[in-house]
Amino acid sequence: MHSQDRPAQPPIDQPLIDLGKRYWLPIYRPRELVLDHGKGARVWDTQGRDYVDFGAGIAVNALGHQDPDLLEALTTQAHKLWHASNVFYSEPPLRLAEELVTASGFAERVFLCNSGSEANEATIKLVRKWAASKGRAPEQRVIVTFRGSFHGRTLAAVTATAQPKYQEGYEPLPGGFRYLDFNDEAALEAAFAHGDVAAVMLEPVQGEGGVLPAAPGFLKRVRELCDKHDALLVLDEIQCGMGRTGTLFAYVQDGVIPDIVTLAKALGCGFPIGAMLAGPKVAEVMQFGAHGTTFGGNPMAAAVARVALSKLSSPELLANVAKQSQALQDGLAAIDAEFGLFAQVRGRGLMLGAVLADAHKGKAGAILEQAAAHGLLVLQAGPDVLRFVPPLNIGDADVAEGLRRLHAALAAFVAG
Ligand SMILES: Cc1ncc(COP(=O)(O)O)c(C=O)c1O
Repeated sequence: MHSQDRPAQPPIDQPLIDLGKRYWLPIYRPRELVLDHGKGARVWDTQGRDYVDFGAGIAVNALGHQDPDLLEALTTQAHKLWHASNVFYSEPPLRLAEELVTASGFAERVFLCNSGSEANEATIKLVRKWAASKGRAPEQRVIVTFRGSFHGRTLAAVTATAQPKYQEGYEPLPGGFRYLDFNDEAALEAAFAHGDVAAVMLEPVQGEGGVLPAAPGFLKRVRELCDKHDALLVLDEIQCGMGRTGTLFAYVQDGVIPDIVTLAKALGCGFPIGAMLAGPKVAEVMQFGAHGTTFGGNPMAAAVARVALSKLSSPELLANVAKQSQALQDGLAAIDAEFGLFAQVRGRGLMLGAVLADAHKGKAGAILEQAAAHGLLVLQAGPDVLRFVPPLNIGDADVAEGLRRLHAALAAFVAG
């Protein structure tokens, strides 16, 4: 169905939507459409309407929907063993750990878990344990994070997340975090002057905070200061990793070697899994009984992630990221030349943000409504930024059709 054929309809599938309104904890406000199935970079709702998927389940479905190799891995494993727990070995998480270590080029060991928050929570504990193992007192175990960051919703991860809106009402928060402005080297140097920093934790490209890449050279400076003050460099690649920025890991582009990297989202391409990759300084710090998880390393999740890792590392896939990134940026520039809605388009690879111009600040949600009505799923990163994170294997035709629908949506928004 073409977007011009799409009449603005009242909310659809009201009975199902009402179940969510009645029974879910009211912490979400989903668009009023019920997705039913997907194929490649397209999804369909329960009314049979199709959407170009520029959101990919919040940067998760990196191989789109119903990738045949992922399906094969999942169904094959489903016929063998669903769950083992970590009191027994099973093959997929053993193989996956080795493959992640090899792919990373720095890690020696891996902790498998179920989500980004859980990977970051494990990381915060690992940093603290490492500092403790060096005889540092609790007040000497500070973790520096950056304003605009997003590290998850569990209590320590949300405390690492230097955005008050996610923390309000959850006090008392765990101590030992220090917040700085992102990309502010002088502030970072001053933060180290206290002599109590155990780690600096950051996203090479901030996602939820507005699709904001680290400035050129910033990560290198962080690495230097961490080395100078015997602190760990922790990179949260939960959103920007797994090929999203054009390399399997974003940090490769910054020319640094981290001590810890966290992954989730696209690691399972839609099947829940997270991972903490630990480098030589920290790989032996947590010993028997120091941490754990029931579902982490689940054989079905690991079987899927092995295929995801292999496909997302391929040169063809990464070349497609570069190609479609350019196509998307060109398309956004053309749209902006017509409507003048954007102050800036920024990001890396297929993690792009269109920052709304001052006159349209706060309107990202309204634009997303129009986009959905015109058959395009896209995300926001805060109220002022449209976020584009399509599947990394998206083809020319779907990028072009998504841009066409965005154009129609923005024309309707402007006509208002
Ligand atoms: C950079 C980053 N870190 C951590 C998280 C938390 O991951 P999860 O929602 O799987 O707990 C997210 C989720 O958006 C994220 O983007």
